Amino acid sequence: MSSTGGTRYLTPTLSFLSDVSVAGESIPLAQPDVGPREEELVLEVLRSGILSLGPMGPRFERAFADWVGTKHAAAVSSGTAGLHLGLVRAGVGPGDEVITSPFSFISSANCALHAGADVTFADIDPVTFNIDPAALEAAITPRTKAIVPVHIFGLPCDIEAITAIAARHGLAIIEDGAEALGAVRQGRRVGTHGSPTIFAFYPNKQMTTGEGGIITTDDDAVYEDILSLRNQGRADSGAWLEHDRLGWNYRMDDLSAAVGLGQVERLDSLLAARTAAAERYNALLADAEGVQLPAVVPGDTRSWFVYTVLLDAGVDRNAVIGRLAERGIASKPYLPAIHLQPLYRARGHREGEFPICEGVSARALALPFFGKITVDQQERIVRELLAVLAVPPLLASARA
Ligand SMILES: Cc1ncc(COP(=O)(O)O)c(C=O)c1O
Repeated sequence: MSSTGGTRYLTPTLSFLSDVSVAGESIPLAQPDVGPREEELVLEVLRSGILSLGPMGPRFERAFADWVGTKHAAAVSSGTAGLHLGLVRAGVGPGDEVITSPFSFISSANCALHAGADVTFADIDPVTFNIDPAALEAAITPRTKAIVPVHIFGLPCDIEAITAIAARHGLAIIEDGAEALGAVRQGRRVGTHGSPTIFAFYPNKQMTTGEGGIITTDDDAVYEDILSLRNQGRADSGAWLEHDRLGWNYRMDDLSAAVGLGQVERLDSLLAARTAAAERYNALLADAEGVQLPAVVPGDTRSWFVYTVLLDAGVDRNAVIGRLAERGIASKPYLPAIHLQPLYRARGHREGEFPICEGVSARALALPFFGKITVDQQERIVRELLAVLAVPPLLASARA
């Protein structure tokens, strides 16, 4: 597992792909779906000799923006880079506070630190696992400058309530849609609700570019600034060596963009395959004892990033993970609460601060999930999970 030996320093997302290798029959947590079209486009870039700042980047960005339904999309080197630039563009800096959810991947909080600001967390809704707007508003102080709402596990957050709060208090919003490409909130796709939104393309995501991310916006000025900030702060004139602000090298190379273009062309079917897999899990687990299935919010559409169940309180989750691993099935506690990570404990955070997040985080278990997962694999996973849960003392301790 990721806490021992050679994998100790792997990031959680990386170990998502590398966990568990029982010869011949292991089922990983995640797997990208790339095919001949992506190969063809990557070859096109290689043969062109233009590996960065060529035409493939804009082709990918245009296709992505058209698919999501925004005027612009600016590709960057990772979702984390996108969040960082979004906050920098919003003017967030030292002395400011940024509010986000403690139930997310660590980047949702770290981006504030990258910008030199402080992070404030607000607890989550127990059903959707997204930030609770009332808790968010209660966490606002005179130093609050921005909100990073996360659409966790691909389920849209209450962006209308959050937008109203931001307007009342004069705060910027940078939406973290890393896990929510294709999700629909009350008839509108995530990314089209008016604030810059980032998506991420690590290979466990709904679509991949290898590493990579993108920022969508309808705002010409935001778009122009992001183009400069990702490209070493180059001046609007485009002059190659004229830098008029502090920027970064957060560019996406053309090989990654080629993979991304191929993925966008196939995005509808990539998403449909994940939806079908999630629905199969829902059916297979419908009567399972000790397992709570992902929430459904009427009127909203989840984009399936992970398939995460909640085990009954008291079930020994680590034992479940260990026994599944013995059977060649990867699973993971997902997500760990950000405020309880060593980095944030060292900044003063403790257990008990965000009880809903901590309760969900202690019980959440991600099962293998990807578009190409087979019916046989899913049936085997569910069979093994139920067998593992039925063995005393795992469920017995939950009932005690
Ligand atoms: C909610 C969330 N935010 C941000 C990120 C960061 O994206 P990246 O890994 O591309 O930096 C991720 C990806 O793991 C994520 O799940």
